[in-house]
Amino acid sequence: MYIVFEGIDGAGKSTQIQLLNEWLENNGLEVETMVEPTDSEVGKLIRRILQRPDATTDRVQKTLGLLFAADRMLIMDKLEDEKKVIISDRSFISSLAYQEPAEWIEVLNKYAKKPDLLILLDLDVKTSVARTSGEDTFENEEFLTNVKANYLEIAKNFNCEIINANNGVNKVSSDIKKAVAPYVGLCKDCIL
Ligand code: TYD
Repeated sequence: MYIVFEGIDGAGKSTQIQLLNEWLENNGLEVETMVEPTDSEVGKLIRRILQRPDATTDRVQKTLGLLFAADRMLIMDKLEDEKKVIISDRSFISSLAYQEPAEWIEVLNKYAKKPDLLILLDLDVKTSVARTSGEDTFENEEFLTNVKANYLEIAKNFNCEIINANNGVNKVSSDIKKAVAPYVGLCKDCIL
């Protein structure tokens, strides 16, 4: 089972993944979590480039598209363990939402694994900007408004649950558990 969390910066992906992880493990499931960009050399390079003031320009975005695809290729094998629930903080779906053009991003990510379940944490852009540090050049209102719209469009192509991420942490967490429960053979009563 490969579950992917997506959403704009500050949507709460890492907090919610941690809560879901704990809940699944407490219910006896074997879970592995991962994060993109990874901590590989390519991932480190990506994080430096994200802080450049020109990170949203066409030229740098195309470079990032290549690097994200390469970073992802390095962890492909880890996604094949069928005994585990693998939860990923971002995936190639981030590249589709953040980078362009879509046809090219699709080619670069031809071998990327499609999620069994996509959890899209949908957050207001203003809240996102208020929550994030602004350290990454992507963390600005205009850019993220476009990314949010892209996500809602892309979600239609996947088995996706859209979760309102403007609610409090506990409500968001229980909405996620309700969405995930049937995929991992747990009953909704286990959420309480
Ligand atoms: P993020 O989850 O925000 O990491 P952190 O909170 O540790 O800074 O990811 C870093 C940024 O990378 C984020 O703005 C989204 C962007 N990104 C892409 O543009 N394309 C991609 O394919 C991925 C995986 C991330």
